[in-house]
Amino acid sequence: MHHFSYKDNEMYCEEVPIQVIAEKVGTPFYLYSHATLKRHFLAFQHAFEGTQRLVCYSAKANSNLAVMSLIAGLGGGLDIVSGGELYRGLKAGFSPNKIVYSGVGKRLDEIDLALEHGVLMLNVESLEELKAIDQRAGLLNKRAPIAIRVNPDVDSRTHPYISTGLKKNKFGINAEAAMEGYKLAREMEHIDIVGIDCHIGSQITRVQPFEDALGSVKKLVNDLKEMRIDIKYLDMGGGLGITYDDESPPHPDEYAKAIVRSLKDASLHLILEPGRVIVGNAGILVTRVLYRKSGDIKKFVIADAAMNDLIRPTLYGAYHAIQPVVQSTGKTIVADVVGPICETGDFLAVDREIPDVKQGDLLAVMSAGAYGFTMSSNYCSRLKVAEVMVKDDGFHVVRDRQTYEDLMAGESIPDFFDQ
Ligand code: LLP
Repeated sequence: MHHFSYKDNEMYCEEVPIQVIAEKVGTPFYLYSHATLKRHFLAFQHAFEGTQRLVCYSAKANSNLAVMSLIAGLGGGLDIVSGGELYRGLKAGFSPNKIVYSGVGKRLDEIDLALEHGVLMLNVESLEELKAIDQRAGLLNKRAPIAIRVNPDVDSRTHPYISTGLKKNKFGINAEAAMEGYKLAREMEHIDIVGIDCHIGSQITRVQPFEDALGSVKKLVNDLKEMRIDIKYLDMGGGLGITYDDESPPHPDEYAKAIVRSLKDASLHLILEPGRVIVGNAGILVTRVLYRKSGDIKKFVIADAAMNDLIRPTLYGAYHAIQPVVQSTGKTIVADVVGPICETGDFLAVDREIPDVKQGDLLAVMSAGAYGFTMSSNYCSRLKVAEVMVKDDGFHVVRDRQTYEDLMAGESIPDFFDQ
């Protein structure tokens, strides 16, 4: 069952008419379906049934406190990439021993925070970082559980900005350096080797790249075994794609089957870090049409949401379906759907066939639950939008729209301006 669907030509989220929320909350706003979030997380979790696994939801996809707390309540773990995500994760109720910390550039204060709280493991991405972690653990009188992130040199055939497993990418270290790293780590006084990690990219729509990556990682695990270094956790990262337009990514079941098959007899505890596949299609961005105009060669629909609210079309040329919240005539136009920002790159859709909308109509920008709000900014001093969650026939504002005061919070004018 799809939780954003039409009843009598009007789009509902679960049992709530989206128009009703728009009247109450104003536009634009992100809207999440509780039932969809729950279904997606549990489907992913169940796909690996029978295997020792921990599903660590990737906070970067959508770090709203309510979204994260829902996942924590379902028994999920968390994949974080900053001290801020750790802070949010703990507030949302994740237990620290279900949190994995990835990222190429962890600051010392962030490493300290992770060690103090006792996260499950730190995924190390360079030998310098390994040394820093050992040092910090020594200073704090703690032991640091680590995995090394291997770059398996696999082409995930996704957008170049979100492919991470190629030699030329900044992520992880190659197999040889990883062996070196494990040897070093074994000698370090405050390090516990607990895992191995890889993440090859995002919005991946085939299983083959995952199987290839797993092949390389397993080979390393065996080499390590020969050196008497035993690995407990194998972290496969995230990356499973979703349908935005006409993609047909594997279902989590198929993805899980392929991974479990490739793992075979290796008695490893799997860690997975899905982000987009959990939240992407559980959220939309609702925006109102401000104006329409026809240029010499193009029609423009000017919406009140802009690239600062959803940057994916601008940054990656990403496709997001745009649907009317209230269906009317069935007549369509071809137009650019643009925002109010002073940049040509400020668009939600280009040359798109959309319904012949009128001023004041509401539009739903679909599949916007992942990397939507989290990548939004205050560019042009636009207020960050509200976020709303629906459950059954009720809704709750899970993040207030910013106010003009919020915009300048923490800013001040120096005293020396008076001199
Ligand atoms: N684990 C690690 C180490 C990651 O770097 C990422 C995503 C994930 C897990 C989650 O990947 P997912 O399951 O969501 O594909 N802003 C881009 C996506 C960037 C992904 C960055 N890393 C977008 O809007 O498409």
